[in-house]
Amino acid sequence: MKILGIESSCDETAAAVVEAENGSLRILSNTVASQIEMHRLWGGVVPELAGRAHIEKISEVCSTALSDAGCTIKDIDAIAVTSSPGLIGALLVGVNFAKCLAYSHGIPLVPVEHVHAHLCAVSLLDDAPKPPFAALAVSGGHTAIYMGESFTEFNELASTRDDAAGEAFDKVARVIGLPYPGGAAMDKLAYEGDPTAIKFPSPAIAGDTLDFSFSGLKTAALNAVNNARQKGEEVNKADLAASFTAAVCAGIAKRADEVLAKTKCCKLVLAGGVAANSHLRTALAEVCEKRGARLYVPPVSLCGDNAAMVAAAGYYRYLAGMRADTSLNAFTD
Ligand code: KG4
Ligand code: ZN
Repeated sequence: MKILGIESSCDETAAAVVEAENGSLRILSNTVASQIEMHRLWGGVVPELAGRAHIEKISEVCSTALSDAGCTIKDIDAIAVTSSPGLIGALLVGVNFAKCLAYSHGIPLVPVEHVHAHLCAVSLLDDAPKPPFAALAVSGGHTAIYMGESFTEFNELASTRDDAAGEAFDKVARVIGLPYPGGAAMDKLAYEGDPTAIKFPSPAIAGDTLDFSFSGLKTAALNAVNNARQKGEEVNKADLAASFTAAVCAGIAKRADEVLAKTKCCKLVLAGGVAANSHLRTALAEVCEKRGARLYVPPVSLCGDNAAMVAAAGYYRYLAGMRADTSLNAFTD
């Protein structure tokens, strides 16, 4: 069967066609229209502009996804759409477009949760993990730990109590003058600095919890920049990027180690925009090696927001009988 995935929860308008054959998934097309250039002017995503840009692009992006896959809407067996969480004005564009398309062509409609879709990106790997697995979703909007019982059932074990890791990366990048979103630039810059130059608090908070907190780490990084400026100096940007990245990676690696020990699971999934971070990928590979576990990470092209992961999540939800009708709504969380 062929699934058309549609994603519009934040600043990417995306559509993809994924084919499922004998239980394995193959990407036939994966189209992403990014709004980053537009939001960069403002240093972050402007919700109203995001919604308007989705309206302008959604039809074209879906047509491109279908033609790139060598098919038409008549070949599509299910339409999967992100209906939560995200920016409401952004989500509504994809949800409404998907509803119209499904209704007018008589195609089953499947609602998808965005964070679960990130975790389903690994089901598109040639050697996709078989659940159960422990999973870390690390993105601009979310940082949480799950037990993936199946590709439709994700039990949350812990989450951030304040900022998400990607949000913290972007904020620190912004104060040192890197363009939005600064995560990828921080990743590169970190190679040029000393990861031990500045001592930062761990985002893996103390106590009997697997939760994270990134706000203290973010504030400490901003203070390092401001304290230097007050003395008429400039912080060494590469050292800041390296030390901040090291603190993020060590905190997430600590949680990965703890969750593998606690669940006795031998598979770990890493997903979300921040999963593209090369230092984090290395840190988690080391944890998994030490624990005799296997790490599953999507290629960088499937870490950030995309619709192939939405189609993949939609496939499993379709098999589980999940459907939506024309009353489907969007939700911010
Ligand atoms: O998953 P995503 O595309 O959107 C959300 O669902 O939030 O994640 C976007 C986030 C941004 O904060 C971006 O800076 C971050 O992922 N990101 C990175 C890297 N590439 C993207 N953070 C650290 N290192 C990277 N290489
Ligand atoms: Zn995302």
